[in-house]
Amino acid sequence: MTLEEKVGQMAQAERGAIDGDRDQITTLALGSVLSGGGSVPADNTPAGWADMVDAYQAKALATRLKIPLLYGIDSVHGHNNLVGATIFPHNIGMGATRDPALVEREEQITAIETKATGPQWVFAPCVCVSRDLRWGRTYESFGEDPRLVSEMAVGIEGFQGEHKRDMATNRHVLATAKHFAGDGDTKFGSSTSGTYTIDQGVTVTDRRTFAKIDLAPYVTAVRKYGVGSIMPSFSSVDWTEDGVGNPVKMSAHEELLTEVLKKKIGFDGFLISDWAAIQQIPGDYATQVRTSVNAGMDMFMEPYSAPQFIQTLIAEVKAGRVKMSRIDDAVRRILTAKFELGLFEHPYTDRSLAKTIGSPEHRAVARQAVAESQVLLKNAGRALPLRKNARIYVAGANADDIGNQAGGWTVTWQGSSGNIIPGTTILDGIKQNSSHVTYSADASASMAGSDVGVVVVGETPYAEGVGDVGNGHTLNLSDADKAAIDKVCGAIRTCVVLDVAGRPQIVTDQLSEMDAFVMSWLPGSEGAGVADVLFGKRPFTGRLPVTWPRSEAQEPINVGDRAYKPLFPYGYGLRTRPHHH
Ligand code: BGC
Ligand code: BGC
Repeated sequence: MTLEEKVGQMAQAERGAIDGDRDQITTLALGSVLSGGGSVPADNTPAGWADMVDAYQAKALATRLKIPLLYGIDSVHGHNNLVGATIFPHNIGMGATRDPALVEREEQITAIETKATGPQWVFAPCVCVSRDLRWGRTYESFGEDPRLVSEMAVGIEGFQGEHKRDMATNRHVLATAKHFAGDGDTKFGSSTSGTYTIDQGVTVTDRRTFAKIDLAPYVTAVRKYGVGSIMPSFSSVDWTEDGVGNPVKMSAHEELLTEVLKKKIGFDGFLISDWAAIQQIPGDYATQVRTSVNAGMDMFMEPYSAPQFIQTLIAEVKAGRVKMSRIDDAVRRILTAKFELGLFEHPYTDRSLAKTIGSPEHRAVARQAVAESQVLLKNAGRALPLRKNARIYVAGANADDIGNQAGGWTVTWQGSSGNIIPGTTILDGIKQNSSHVTYSADASASMAGSDVGVVVVGETPYAEGVGDVGNGHTLNLSDADKAAIDKVCGAIRTCVVLDVAGRPQIVTDQLSEMDAFVMSWLPGSEGAGVADVLFGKRPFTGRLPVTWPRSEAQEPINVGDRAYKPLFPYGYGLRTRPHHH
């Protein structure tokens, strides 16, 4: 390979940057293309995707060496960019299930649905350990305890298959453990980017604690599950034992990327930088590129700067500031993944399983996950399960909104409210179980004659730092949600409140009004799974994957803290027995 061909393999461009001039894939000898959140083909169907990815692939195969392209995408709760895919609960809900085998099945299904449309590589799972609910990415985390997160890292096997043996089949994809490391353990108000308050911030810690809390899931991901790629985090690390005040960006962190991850932990896959993350390293572009490559980064997500990246890295190698041995190491790692995926033999999309996308079988697994993820936090007078013939009054902004129920990273990066994907809402599920349902989002309809009120409150979608508290968001319930609870719980004898949100919300003052309180998380496309536990078709078994605070000011609060007086502790969750109909 020429230097140009090698460096091309190390570059990844955004779909939107090359779509208008696809020959760039050939002329740059590009190694990879990604779809960022919401970066979808005009025809957002399985065939539309496969046609697009295959057209890009043809351009890669037109190069001298015919090295196939790797297409990456954020399938973080199903193939979530595709309308019609099976959308699973976000990771925080999967953490609540305490069911690693279910996470493995989720990712098997996600691998099938993703690969049938072209992409062979997912930027998932997030094995982040969320230590502060004010983080806008809390819902991408399986929980606050590194042991729980490590157990759920089995999702890697769902994606890649056991020991990557079947990774070349239409049932598996290459996985990415992200974001290495400490992304969920940053200090509030420590941001180095200026824009956000906690996302992309600084993990201020000592090496021992960092290993215990933040690195632990990566040891499992690498040694037990052989994860093929890892994405270093936007965040920085500041070692207290070295004297605070010298945060180093993960994309530039040679100690952690090379000495710890590659040498000590033994990671033999490749590192993919996060979205233009190297551009946050101090210095000019040449310095940023050189620093990151020399720190151990192998492939570079430079969404709109891939040509400049290639040009710059070639110049750095020629100037002797980056060794050819480092380039060879990076390219060897990338090509190994392409061989393991069987791309040289089968570069084009195998569409045969496209018919299973969003199938009843796949949705049934998601529905089971929804049911298992529900956490029953209060159940006075055995308000739950509901009686089948009860007259039910349903209220609240999140009762009948599949967009809110799916959250961020659904069709678009930020997600959105409304009827954006096919599936069932929580209200749909309730209606499947009872013919006496009155629905009034703002609780304005008459409540006379109702036996039970079900109020579904919660958050509207957000992703990444946009959802940080202090960035327009709060853990407190909205005034409208509080009013709906007051109104319904004040008027109807039995009152059940469901929280549809990516993280616990402050309900300390409302709890006494409720007979039952359920944390529903962000269930995704199969809202009917919520009704399955409400009506006792399945038992409540979910347990909190994070500590539930009394107030926003209590954050950060985590299991094991010396002073620990939360509203509900980590691991809490009441159980019910299923009804026998
Ligand atoms: C996020 C990653 C994601 C990437 C590509 C970044 O902003 O931090 O989690 O994989 O974008 O969409
Ligand atoms: C993309 C995301 C990416 C983000 C980074 C968005 O425009 O859609 O995938 O994570 O930018 O800021």
